[in-house]
Amino acid sequence: MHIKFRHAKSLEGLACQYCALNINHEVKAKTLLNNIMPSISLRGQQVPLSPFRKLVRLADAAKAMGKEVYHLNIGQPDILTPPAAIAAFQKKDIQILEYSDAIGIASYRKKLTQYYQSFDIDVTANDILITTGGSEGLQFLMYACFNRGDEVIIPEPFYANYNGFAQIADVVIKPITCAIETGFALPSIEDFERKITPNTKAILITNPNNPTGCFYDKEILMQLGALAKQYDLYLIADEVYREFCYDSQDFYSVLNLKGLEEHVVVVDSISKRFSACGARVGAVVTRNEQLKTSVEKYARLRLSPPGLGQMLAEEMIDGMYDYLMQTKAEYNRRRMTVFNRLQRMEDVVSYLPGGAFYCFAKFPIEDADHFCEWLLTDFDYNGATLMLSPGAGFYATPGLGKDEVRMAYILNTSKLEKAMDCLEQALKVYPHKVQLPMEARFA
Ligand SMILES: Cc1ncc(COP(=O)(O)O)c(C=O)c1O
Repeated sequence: MHIKFRHAKSLEGLACQYCALNINHEVKAKTLLNNIMPSISLRGQQVPLSPFRKLVRLADAAKAMGKEVYHLNIGQPDILTPPAAIAAFQKKDIQILEYSDAIGIASYRKKLTQYYQSFDIDVTANDILITTGGSEGLQFLMYACFNRGDEVIIPEPFYANYNGFAQIADVVIKPITCAIETGFALPSIEDFERKITPNTKAILITNPNNPTGCFYDKEILMQLGALAKQYDLYLIADEVYREFCYDSQDFYSVLNLKGLEEHVVVVDSISKRFSACGARVGAVVTRNEQLKTSVEKYARLRLSPPGLGQMLAEEMIDGMYDYLMQTKAEYNRRRMTVFNRLQRMEDVVSYLPGGAFYCFAKFPIEDADHFCEWLLTDFDYNGATLMLSPGAGFYATPGLGKDEVRMAYILNTSKLEKAMDCLEQALKVYPHKVQLPMEARFA
């Protein structure tokens, strides 16, 4: 029957066919018309939508009404992309925009070894596979490291897109919960070990962390490395915020863990480092030959990472030292601005983040989704408001993060001060404030 009705062009036509069969029933025809439309795959339906999309519409509406909206919700830096690199790139005589090699332009990969050397990371150009942003690197790893149903242990809260990448590859995220009261310090190694099952294939950490700004030092990484080795797991480290470690903390890459050459893999990107999110240039870095071969197969399927982006990225490596020092100093000023202001706000729980350009805060509210919407729809302070990311979207465990938000300090200090003025005022007048229990106030 379905085949017979496939060619009905309209509801009317379909109803007529029914007539011919003496089933003159328009409602049934409507149902059939719906059924014969091609349907989105189950996988396509289940891809998680960004939990923050509704807020974007509300922010647009707030702006259309004339409100100034301070965006602390996204990791899009306002820092200039290195101007010298852009100038050098503009002088290039480009005649044909060719595919680059699928694993990246050879001269760029070679130059990147100098960049890694500056962190005492000893890798060859062969260990570096260029990807379309860190995002594609993460996707390739989901396919290359895991079978369907395999598990990856990730400290939560975590970068929300890990959910989507895991889901499309049928990888199961096993979250291990970190708490704001400890500044989101990693749980003990024993806690990690308890999460390991026969299906566990990897531990994935983000260092420094988005969304918490947490920094993991050499000692913790050595412990995680030993665990990965003991249980023969991949240790995947997303190090896209490598440059931004504060308080004289030295960044230590998992690539420097000794004896873990087969286990360790790093996801990298120029998006945040060089404020070049639109260049779409990232990398997977590993010494594991089998993994390289598998990632390369995926890379060859999509032919080429962005050629122009790689040319620009190559220019950025010369002269990067001063640029990165200045950028880090600027983020550090912003970090202190946000931290100092949050510390002074009544009933707000926060901490000094050690890296990246994010922090979490717990507010005296029950539902951060509602609070973030209300900020855009019902609140302004001197014609301005702010946009934050509700915390729950960064947790895999249902119910967590409902009274938390993430802030990205991607605005200059003067705008941040104004955004913090708005927040302070908003927390005073929000109609659904709750009383924090005594112990939480002094966390
Ligand atoms: C932790 C982390 N990993 C990966 C990415 C992806 O970055 P891109 O694809 O722009 O390199 C982001 C972007 O915000 C991120 O925060």
